[in-house]
Amino acid sequence: MLRLSLRRAYSSLSAIAPPPLAFAFDIDGVLLRGEDVLPTAKRALRTLEGDNPFKKKIPYILLTNGGGVSEEERCKKLSSQLGVTITQTQYIQAHTIIKKSAHNYANKPVLVLGGKLDKVRKVAESYGFKKAYTTLDILAWNPAVWPFYDISQGERETAKTPISAIFVFHDPRNWALDVQVICDVILSGGIIGGPPVRFDERSDNQQSVELIFCNPDLVWRSNFERPRLGQGAFKEAFHAVFYALTGSTYPHVQYGKPTEPTYAFAQDVLTHELESLYGIKSPLRNIYMVGDNPESDIAGANAANWSSILVRTGVYSADQGPPTHTPHYHAENVGEAVWWAIEREYRRVSEIKARENILGEMHST
Ligand code: G3P
Ligand code: MG
Repeated sequence: MLRLSLRRAYSSLSAIAPPPLAFAFDIDGVLLRGEDVLPTAKRALRTLEGDNPFKKKIPYILLTNGGGVSEEERCKKLSSQLGVTITQTQYIQAHTIIKKSAHNYANKPVLVLGGKLDKVRKVAESYGFKKAYTTLDILAWNPAVWPFYDISQGERETAKTPISAIFVFHDPRNWALDVQVICDVILSGGIIGGPPVRFDERSDNQQSVELIFCNPDLVWRSNFERPRLGQGAFKEAFHAVFYALTGSTYPHVQYGKPTEPTYAFAQDVLTHELESLYGIKSPLRNIYMVGDNPESDIAGANAANWSSILVRTGVYSADQGPPTHTPHYHAENVGEAVWWAIEREYRRVSEIKARENILGEMHST
């Protein structure tokens, strides 16, 4: 019944384009669980693609702390899974934001971690890194890093390239190897196997190697019954080992939801999406973040003054008690989330329109 009245209300509002809201969707636990597409996901996106009372495309992006493959590859896969075309202009993964600063490291050797085999190196190269190495490269150069092999002089030569920065792009597959190599790089000032440098966090010129993490999630929701450890857990493991070794905590940069840089980046991407859809260069109002993780999705959206909707199909479940960060709305799933937001914004618009009509009539009499 309400949607019918909205149809009628909207029919008098169709002149107002674009639609007065936009969406950012988390992926794991909202649209997908592992490889499985969640029940209302396809319908929700079709609604935004134009199958809605307003017959207009509502701007939206996918904003995930996932990653490990190129944006192009992931968009292709998501488009076939979700049944709508997801373009790269609509897609932000944990390390996409690194594209903005890659030029600073173009010719500097850096270490990139996470994901399968050397996929993250290829991603880094697509961002503009010319000397990106993985821990597997390090192991190939210097198997002694993981003590089962005598290294040749020639290999040792290649192993002497100073690493200037370490980027943890995606969830590491081999925590032990990766923690070992990060400690090696940091505690030898970037030259693996080189003379040790004493690290003391109290002295400010100590950090010769930058350390950047792209996803702070301690847990995330796959298609297993219980949430799984994420990149944030790997970060905790690294810090615990580094502290045990040095008595110090190594400073690092954090990107990914809920960080401010990632939400500011997402707001820019959504604003461009609005402009490319409706040719309007105006700041976006009423952005709705639909997420399953209070720590990342809801905390970040609330801090960015977006509206936040927490679904029960992922990390958060009501039997945990109230979420650590309060959303504007709790929804059973993404389908309900989308309709709640649409109805909320169009009720607002139709009320404004009704008030204008009344004022108009009052002035005309
Ligand atoms: O590794 C990905 C995971 O941490 C969460 O992904 O889509 O829920 O932000 P997402
Ligand atoms: Mg999620």
